[in-house]
Amino acid sequence: MTTAPPPIDDVAALQARAEALRSQLNYHNYRYYVLDDPEIADGQYDALMQELRAIEADHPELQSPDSPTQRVGAGPSAQFAVVPHRVPMLSLANAFSPEALRSWYERIVRLTGRDIRGFTVEPKIDGLAITLRYESGKLTVGATRGDGSNGEDITPNLRTVRTVPLALHDAPPRLLEVRGEVYLSRAAFQKINDERMEEGQPLFANPRNCAAGSVRQLDPRISARRPLDVFIYALGEANGWRPRTQWEMLEGFARWGFRTNPENQRCDTIDEVLAACARWESRREALAYDIDGVVVKVDDLDLQAELGAIGREPRWAIAYKFPPMQATTRLLDIGINVGRTGSLNPFAILEPVKVSGVTVRLASLHNDEDVRRKDIRIGDTVLVQRAGEVIPQVVGPILTKRPPDATPYALPTACPVCASPVVKPEGEAMARCTGGFERCVAQRWELLKHFVSRGAMDVESVGEKLADTLMRHGLVRDVSDLYDPERVNKEALVRLERMAEKSAQNVLDNLELSKARPLSRVLFALGIRYVGAQTAELLARAFGTMDRLRSAEAADVEAVEGIGKKIAESLYAYFRVPANLRVVDRLAGFGVSMVEPSTQATGPLAGLTIVVTGRLPSYARTQVEARITDLGGTVGDSVTKKTSYLVAGEEAGSKLAKAVKLGTPVLDEVGLEALIREREGDPDAAHQAAGPQAAA
Ligand code: IVH
Repeated sequence: MTTAPPPIDDVAALQARAEALRSQLNYHNYRYYVLDDPEIADGQYDALMQELRAIEADHPELQSPDSPTQRVGAGPSAQFAVVPHRVPMLSLANAFSPEALRSWYERIVRLTGRDIRGFTVEPKIDGLAITLRYESGKLTVGATRGDGSNGEDITPNLRTVRTVPLALHDAPPRLLEVRGEVYLSRAAFQKINDERMEEGQPLFANPRNCAAGSVRQLDPRISARRPLDVFIYALGEANGWRPRTQWEMLEGFARWGFRTNPENQRCDTIDEVLAACARWESRREALAYDIDGVVVKVDDLDLQAELGAIGREPRWAIAYKFPPMQATTRLLDIGINVGRTGSLNPFAILEPVKVSGVTVRLASLHNDEDVRRKDIRIGDTVLVQRAGEVIPQVVGPILTKRPPDATPYALPTACPVCASPVVKPEGEAMARCTGGFERCVAQRWELLKHFVSRGAMDVESVGEKLADTLMRHGLVRDVSDLYDPERVNKEALVRLERMAEKSAQNVLDNLELSKARPLSRVLFALGIRYVGAQTAELLARAFGTMDRLRSAEAADVEAVEGIGKKIAESLYAYFRVPANLRVVDRLAGFGVSMVEPSTQATGPLAGLTIVVTGRLPSYARTQVEARITDLGGTVGDSVTKKTSYLVAGEEAGSKLAKAVKLGTPVLDEVGLEALIREREGDPDAAHQAAGPQAAA
C-alpha cells in the first residue's frame, strides 16, 4: 500500500498527498503495532513519515490531529479537563475462588430461568481503563475512567500510544466509543525503572502504577516516550451498529483497526470457563504483561441486556481474581551483595513464605536509598511481591506491626567481603566498596564472570561454573591470569574436578580464539564503570587502539560523539589505577588484541594510514587522531613504508626525519583539512593538498 509521490504544484495536491500519507502511515502502524506483521521496512516507513512531516511543517494549515506525526506528543497542558461519560464506565464484581465463580453462574441461571451457554474469557489486564471516542472514524476524545461517570481528558497522551488508532478503517459507525485498558509490558516497566534507578529517581512499584503515571502526565511528550499499549474490550456507544455477541463485538473492533487481545477465548459451558481460568492462573507469567485475573462475560448481548446491572456492576460479567502475588512475612536480616563495580546491593533475608505457590526466602531491596526511603528495618513485617520478575521484591514495611526496638537500617561502613571503606558519592543511589578488584574478592569474581561472558570476550566453554572453579583453585586471580600459560595450562586444568584432557584442550583453544576479539569487546570486558557494550564501541572506533585511549585526556574522550562527562571521567580514572594498568598490560603481553579493526572502509580517509607527530596549532594530537579514524583512516604509530601521510606539527622530531628519508608526504594541520575536503570531493581543495609541504 505504498504509492509514489505525485508531482506537487498546488496546495490541493499537497493536501491530497498529506492525506494519502496519513492513511498509509496509519495503515502501516496498524500492521506493525496491532497485527505485529509489518508490510514494509522500517526505512520505508521513516521515509513516508519524513515526507508528511515536511509537508505539515511547510503548511501548518494542512495539519490534522489524527496525523501520525502527532504521536510525538504536543506541549504540556495546564490541567486535565473533565469528560462526562455519556454511557457510564462500569466496573466488575469479583470472584476470588472457583466456587465463587460457579455461584455467579448459578445465580444468573436462576435469575433468567435458563441454561446459560456461551461466555468469553478475557485476560484481565492490570492497567488503566480508558475510553476512546471516534467521530467519522477519527479519534476525538480519549479519557480515563475516573469515577465511572466523569473521567479526565487525556486525549493528547492517548494519541501518543501507538496501538490507539488515530483513524479507523473499514467504514466504522459515524459515532463510536470503545473502552479498553492501557498498560505497560513488564519488560518496558523494568527498563523504565532501571533508567530511573541510574538517575536516582524514585521507582514505580509495578507496571500498573507506571502506566497510570505515564498516561496521566500533563506533558504528553513524557507519555510519548513510554511504550504504552492498549487492548480494547468493551463498547460505549455505536450508532447503527448492533453486534449480537461480545465475540462479534471484539471482531468488529479488530476489523476497524483496534488492538484486541489475541488471548481472548470463547467457552461454551461454565466448566470450560473454570478450566480456562485455572489455566490462566498457572500461566499468568507466560504473558508479557501483568494480569490480575480473568474477565468472564456472557457472550449473548440480548442476554446481557436482560441481566442488567446492579449499581455499577453488570450481572452479566465477573472478574475471576487470582490470589495476589503478595504476602507478608518477617524480615530476618539484610544481606549485601557486592557487584562487579563494587556496588553494595542490599537484599532481604526473610522468614520463608509462600507467594502464589512459590516459597520465598530472599528478596530484592534494590539499593540502599530505596531501603531508606521506604524505611525498611530488620525485624519489620514486610510486604513481599512477585511481579513476574525472577527475584521477588520487598514492597515496604507494615508499620503497624513494627517491633518497638526496630532501628533504621544503616549500610555497613566497610565492605562485608573485603573490609575496604564504603563510599556513597553525592547524588548516587548506590554505595560502593572502594577495594577494587585487587582487594575485593567479590568484585574480582563478578568481573571474571563478566569478562568471559557472551557480549564481552565470549570465551566459549568457560562459563560461570568454570570461572568459579578457576578462582577457587587459585589459578586465576584477575582476568589477565586467564591467558597466563604459567597458570592456566593443560596440566593445571586436567587436575580440576570433572575436566578431561579433551575439555582442557577445548578451554585453551577457546581462550586462544578470544584473544582476537576487537578492542571494543576488550574494553567492555574490563568492566569499567559506565562503559557498556555500546559505549565501548564508540570509544574503540574513535581511538582505534588501547594505547591511544589510555593516554587520552578526559576532555579528548568527552569530545567523542555520544560520550558524556561521567563516562570520560570514569575511563580517565580507570587508567590512573596501577592495578588496572597492570591487567591491561598483561593482557596485551599475552597476545590479547588491543586494536579495533577499521570497520568503516568507507569515509574520505579510507585506505590511508596517517601518522601524527609534534604539537599542532589548534587540536590536541588525540583529537586529530580521533578525526582520522572517524573518517575511515587508520592511525599509524610510527612512520613506515606503508605510511600514506605524516601530519607534523611543531617540534616534530625523529618521525619527520624518517618521513623525509622515506619520501612520505608531510602535511600540516591545514594540509590535512585540505586533503579531507579533496577526498570528500571538493574540487577547490585539490590544489591545496596537491603539493604536500613540509611543516616548518
Ligand atoms: S470489562 C462491564 N474486560 O477491570 C465492563 N474489563 O475490575 C467492565 N479490565 O475497569 C470492564 N481487562 O479496567 C473488562 N477484558 C476486560 C478487562 C477489564 C481489564 C479492567 C477494567 C475494569 C476493571 C474492572
